[in-house]
Amino acid sequence: MVTMRIAVSGASGLIGSALTASLAADGHEVVHLVRREPRTPAEVRWDPMAGTVDTTGLAGCEAVVHLAGAGVGQRRWTEARKKVLRDSRVLGTAAIARAAAALDPRPRVLVCGSAIGYYGDTGDAWVDEDSPKGTGFLADLVRDWEAAADPARAAGIRTVHTRTGLVVARSGGAWAPLFPIFRAGLGGRLGSGRQFWSFIALRDEIAAIRHAITTESLSGPVNLTAPEPLTNREITAAMGRALHRPTLAAVPAPVLRLALGEFAGDVLSSQRVRPRRLLDSGFAFSFPHIDEAISAALDPALPGPGGKGWPPSEAGPEEDEH
Ligand SMILES: NC(=O)c1ccc[n+]([C@@H]2O[C@H](COP(=O)([O-])OP(=O)(O)OC[C@H]3O[C@@H](n4cnc5c(N)ncnc54)[C@H](OP(=O)(O)O)[C@@H]3O)[C@@H](O)[C@H]2O)c1
Repeated sequence: MVTMRIAVSGASGLIGSALTASLAADGHEVVHLVRREPRTPAEVRWDPMAGTVDTTGLAGCEAVVHLAGAGVGQRRWTEARKKVLRDSRVLGTAAIARAAAALDPRPRVLVCGSAIGYYGDTGDAWVDEDSPKGTGFLADLVRDWEAAADPARAAGIRTVHTRTGLVVARSGGAWAPLFPIFRAGLGGRLGSGRQFWSFIALRDEIAAIRHAITTESLSGPVNLTAPEPLTNREITAAMGRALHRPTLAAVPAPVLRLALGEFAGDVLSSQRVRPRRLLDSGFAFSFPHIDEAISAALDPALPGPGGKGWPPSEAGPEEDEH
């Protein structure tokens, strides 16, 4: 296998830490783009707000994977928080794209994290990469976030936007808090439960990003979601099965809106996303079904793309008592 020098922003996050572990396990040289003073030779400084990147540290990178951005579900969406969500992605992406375009030689590919929030609330209708943008804050944000990579595109760098669904993982992201809730027997459908959730196992997410790095035919938006999205009601039942707990609780939509504010709209909205470009480019999901995705999240010993025990962060102190 040919190894590469690959720069990754947001490398400390859920997806970034699993990706960098997977790449390093396969012998790739990983450069971490960090927002603080670098502590090791493998770290390179960037400042998304100031729009600066230490391009000398990126010399020789053949691929750049940009995953940085303030957490969408971590806090209530006040106007101030929305500005942080937006600026961290739009200004950050523009800075990375300009830096990639300025390198000589240029990287062959820029993979930018993105989200299925682009499609808005689409009810029961299937959507794929050719579907139009939806409405709402997230849809507008994703449009601007993806457009911010234009300097890389203009420089001829193959640019992929990984429109990611709900990542099924125990160690971070929007799904992680569901595990203790369901384990406590307090899990249940959210709102009507009829809304579709387009999910993806963390290991498939990482494999798909790696597929995007190496698949020359891929550019533009690529949906990173399992092929068979399910309703919230069906996923609730699957969580109950996996954790051997009842799922009789239900959280009515008004309560969710009170608790989460505008972000509740994201949890309650329906997105039935087809990963058409991934499938057309020959990507094979290892965990296409929800039961497999949940089992993979619960099983720290399951081999992943990086080998046995991958990713290390899931084998940490957070052992499942089940
Ligand atoms: N997890 C999901 O279910 C999911 C679904 C759809 C889309 N996505 C998107 O995929 C990307 C990666 O997701 P993730 O789950 O790995 O996210 P994450 O765990 O929240 O990590 C994101 C990383 O971004 C950096 N970051 C945090 N605040 C920032 C700020 N204000 N400005 C710039 N960088 C900041 C941090 O890395 P450093 O401290 O190392 O810089 C952080 O670890 C994100 O853009 C996310 O929106 C994720």
